[in-house]
Amino acid sequence: MHIYINQENQQFHLTNGQVSYIFHVMKNGQLGHLYYGKALRHRSDFSHLQVYDVPTGASCHVYADDPSFVLETLRQEYPAYGNSDFREPAISVRKENESHVPTFTYDSFSVLEGKPRLLGLPATYGNEASTLQILLKDEFLQAELTLNYTIFPDKPVITRSATLRNYGGENLVIERLMGAALDLPDKDFIFTHLAGAWARERHVKERVLETGIQSISSLRGASSHHHNPFLALRRPNATEHSGEVYGFNFVYSSNFIMQVEVDHYDMARLTVGIHPFGFQWGLAPKETFQTPEVVMVYSDQGLNGMSQALHQLYRENLIPERWKSEDRPILINNWEATYFDFDEDKLVNIAKSASELGIEMLVLDDGWFGKRNDDTSSLGDWHVDFNKLPNGLESLAKKINDAGMKFGLWFEPEMISPNSELFKNHPDWAVGMADQHRTLGRNQLVLDFSRPEIVDYLYEKMSGIIKQTNLSYIKWDMNRNITEPFSQKLASNQQGEFFHRYILGVYSLYERLTSEFPHVLFESCAGGGGRFDAGMLYYAPQTWTSDNTDAVERLKIQYGTSFAYPLYSMGSHVSAVPNHQTYRETPLSTRANTAYFGTFGYELDPLSLTEEEREEIKGQVAFYKEQRRLIREGHFYRLLSPFSGNETAWMVVSPDQSEALVGYYKVLATPNSRKQQTLPLSGLSADKAYEVNGRTYYGDELMQVGLQLPTEFNGVNMRSSKRRGDFQSNIFYLKSTDENLD
Ligand code: GLA
Repeated sequence: MHIYINQENQQFHLTNGQVSYIFHVMKNGQLGHLYYGKALRHRSDFSHLQVYDVPTGASCHVYADDPSFVLETLRQEYPAYGNSDFREPAISVRKENESHVPTFTYDSFSVLEGKPRLLGLPATYGNEASTLQILLKDEFLQAELTLNYTIFPDKPVITRSATLRNYGGENLVIERLMGAALDLPDKDFIFTHLAGAWARERHVKERVLETGIQSISSLRGASSHHHNPFLALRRPNATEHSGEVYGFNFVYSSNFIMQVEVDHYDMARLTVGIHPFGFQWGLAPKETFQTPEVVMVYSDQGLNGMSQALHQLYRENLIPERWKSEDRPILINNWEATYFDFDEDKLVNIAKSASELGIEMLVLDDGWFGKRNDDTSSLGDWHVDFNKLPNGLESLAKKINDAGMKFGLWFEPEMISPNSELFKNHPDWAVGMADQHRTLGRNQLVLDFSRPEIVDYLYEKMSGIIKQTNLSYIKWDMNRNITEPFSQKLASNQQGEFFHRYILGVYSLYERLTSEFPHVLFESCAGGGGRFDAGMLYYAPQTWTSDNTDAVERLKIQYGTSFAYPLYSMGSHVSAVPNHQTYRETPLSTRANTAYFGTFGYELDPLSLTEEEREEIKGQVAFYKEQRRLIREGHFYRLLSPFSGNETAWMVVSPDQSEALVGYYKVLATPNSRKQQTLPLSGLSADKAYEVNGRTYYGDELMQVGLQLPTEFNGVNMRSSKRRGDFQSNIFYLKSTDENLD
């Protein structure tokens, strides 16, 4: 891995044998982009990669005597607007009362071993990485802009962010500051992203990149169910397993934009950052603003190669250290079992019954605090409801622990019910203006997390309960988006800072709790998967993927989520039938076969199971315990997409290729179906022999010919459903053997 600096030509080349990223200082002192993609061998000079092309027609050129120097056609690293480049810029900043075209020119560089933390923000980390910082200055603004580039060894990944510091004596106003911009030389890409809504998050969407602006974004105060802060640009001929793909992920949990502008020369400019709409940040003298980080992946092994690079990065360089190698408990959550209707006996009985099945933790969901018997009250009143739990939380926790189970609790720290005691005592703590209409969402308002004293209050409440209950896990929920975004504490000219300050408050509470209680496992949640992003994964290594637990729907949701996020970050549970979101009845085996590919758990009442079901669940729990290391560490391969047909298949292969787990799902039964259907696998060692279903195959046979699938699942010799008909599935476990098959 290397960062090459050519001081004479002012060129910079980051490479690690997998990717190259090359840029230089242009003749006007701004940074020009030269190349990003598959690794190039290093040369002492890359000037020839700069294309000076004299545009025809009435272009504006920077120098009167050089018609070829036209910012409109030059690829840049961090473009501004107003200087003959008419595309949307990466930066817009001005003095408080003056307009100005930002003109940041090269000053100096530094190379750091490792990766500095981004102050107050989640970001990837790694001592083994190297960071290049380029310092640019705008003398008029008296501002310094630092562009940060980090490259990781053995990963086709570069991360970027920008830092702006006011070194002058006047106030500055930032109107836009992207985490990264990237000028690509052509537009021959398919814009691939993850879109959805509550209960159908992260469906894969694709469209051809075309002239004009195309973007995905959120203005909801959360990264959102609707657009995930992830974007892939794949070449039209790229598939799951071959061809060129660029993947981008924004490590942020609030308002964002990921935009591609294709201009009249068919060049594509990508910008990724905090959404500039409504955003305005005052930068007083000596102050610094840090953008969140953009992760950029290059893959020449298709979409799946891109996903694996992101998964590996997040497993090794993003989630909390402790959870990289520790098994996460198989949990049972009482939400769909009881909703708000529970008492101590009921919970303890659920815990005991689940413990007998091998389940390891009970999570008490919503309704344990204040007077919360439905979703109309008590958010903010984080003290136990003695009507439901007369002996208190401590006693409940102890009884759960005595039943051999860990104890976890649900919180929704960022919310306040209008009829809560907290609201009575602190009416100004809610987001919005006191005397103006405030829109309710799920009957609740949002707490103003831009205010440190409110974050402190929540810290006191939550840390007290963690200590009191010997808590092992917290499900941190966020059930509504933010409306009337206004803080009663911020000055009127600071209201444009509200959303970012809010999420910094959320991050600071996470930071304090996770550093003081590293043994507590956090699972983030926002009405299911409304905040499934890399920012959250930095603190909470798993996310409740969706409120939709229907196995058929989950195929799409988990398949889409896997584009960016590792299997072991996806909370996935077996729930009761008929399913509470779709009323669909799928076999218990299919529910588990889907949920295995995530952090596994149950969301049902174990007391209402038949003996036969209990036996089946015992088997599932034991099976997952054997497999969870593979799910945590393995390489994931998507084989058949639920977005293209009736069948879905995926598999996970251990890093040493000695074992693999394959999931195959068929949504609707087909009459008199194919008798000799095979499923070609991926990621195995061609030369290794693998045992599966009592037979032994070489890896190349399994990848070229495929695994023989059963005919409509007659259930012979495999972990299959007892039911026939719709919604069937199979799991195949492959283990390498030393047997010589020659
Ligand atoms: C949200 C979560 C659910 C559950 C409920 C409780 O919808 O996504 O899992 O915790 O809130 O109110």
